Amino acid sequence: MSETASAFVRVAHVEDVEPEFPLGVVLEDGRRICLVRDGEEIHAVEDRCPHRDFALSGGDVVAPCVLECPWHGARFDVRTGAVLQGPATDAIATFAVRVEAGVVLVGPRRS
Ligand code: FES
Repeated sequence: MSETASAFVRVAHVEDVEPEFPLGVVLEDGRRICLVRDGEEIHAVEDRCPHRDFALSGGDVVAPCVLECPWHGARFDVRTGAVLQGPATDAIATFAVRVEAGVVLVGPRRS
């Protein structure tokens, strides 16, 4: 593994991330991240819709791993960042996630 432990930062506790609702967090460097829970797994994506920059953490988890933007309804796969439904056309960034002792840690950008 090429990443060091320090590349990951604590952002939340697992129980803070409810299965039906995305959770927005802000990293120390100002990046806004949206966490989505799928069972015991947590996914992290950028908290910005590429359509009109709305915060995706204000949206809904409409199916497992599917995040819907609250403004115009674009949908994204939080595992890959891929657009599943427009009007957005660009994928969103995804980030590596670790869960250690009930704490969610977000690491480097993956896509
Ligand atoms: S701002 Fe997200 S779909 Fe328009």
